[in-house]
Amino acid sequence: MRVQPIEWRDGVVAILDQTQLPQRMVVHEYDDWQGVAEAIRVMQVRGAPAIGIAAAYGLALAARTIDAPTMEAFRAEFGEACRAFAQTRPTAVNLFGAIERLQAVVAQCPTPDEARVRLLAEAHAIREEDYAADYAMGKHGAALLPPNARVLTICNTGALATGGIGTALGILRVARQQGTLAHVYACETRPRLQGLKLTAWELLQEGIPFEVIADSAAGTLMAQGKVDAVIAGADRIAANGDTANKIGTYTLAVLAHYHGVPFYIAAPLSTIDPRTPDGASIPIEYRDPSEITHIDGLQIAPAGAPALNPAFDITPAALITAIITEQGVFRPPYDFIPIAQA
Ligand code: MRU
Repeated sequence: MRVQPIEWRDGVVAILDQTQLPQRMVVHEYDDWQGVAEAIRVMQVRGAPAIGIAAAYGLALAARTIDAPTMEAFRAEFGEACRAFAQTRPTAVNLFGAIERLQAVVAQCPTPDEARVRLLAEAHAIREEDYAADYAMGKHGAALLPPNARVLTICNTGALATGGIGTALGILRVARQQGTLAHVYACETRPRLQGLKLTAWELLQEGIPFEVIADSAAGTLMAQGKVDAVIAGADRIAANGDTANKIGTYTLAVLAHYHGVPFYIAAPLSTIDPRTPDGASIPIEYRDPSEITHIDGLQIAPAGAPALNPAFDITPAALITAIITEQGVFRPPYDFIPIAQA
């Protein structure tokens, strides 16, 4: 059964709390948009496409709860909710894409009642488009892998992070079904351990052979010839192909380049940001240092040890062998401005 990280349940937004996985399956039902925004901020829901979907449903919920007599008053209150969602996480561009799509709907609606109906339809559309994109990406990406492929990946890019089967992990699912995937190495992905907790959880359910590795083990596995490809997701891809993804992705790309291992990014077109020219222009989220000094609330570092916690890094386009999207596989030189605006 496919995991549902976010669900619209007749006027409430149900979010599977990923901070509690894999120990506990806890679903929170939010009947106010502020709750959904907070769920994004504290990473109950995470992964670029899933963040976009959650924001879309959160705004559809906001539209239901705004009690405005005129369209002008409705737009003002809706704008406040949009601004709050925009502040939850800065790097994943799907968040801003979803907000803009819903704002465009509101701009066309003559009455609050019509806006409420059309905003929910738009949120459903965003989720369904992501679902379809994952399958298309899966097929394009699986075709790039050699027989008996051993693939290294980072973070969680699976069903928990999207509206479908996942991006990088979706490709691994399809490759496994097609019989070309032999083994996955899942980087544990410090500090939040999305690989150890979430990717491992999804791979176990799927019956895909894998091993979790310490992030620092990736280089030695490549040196031993045990990695045929690296596939990572993306939180934002700039117009020139530079890609923001979970911290540690850049390190993997440098290692892959050195060892002659293909390095792929898998992401839907909604993760490409044609208005961001290059990686240097992508805002990088710095999170609370306690994510480094503590694990699951348990202090590991000596009290008072300072820590620096950039959540994402930039992989330059020059290190990316290809970018796999639902519309096919793009190779350098990347120029996504016309593609993403089409
Ligand atoms: O901080 P997170 O867990 O939201 O980071 C997620 C990632 O970096 C994923 O690899 C990326 O969003 C792609 S998800 C399909």
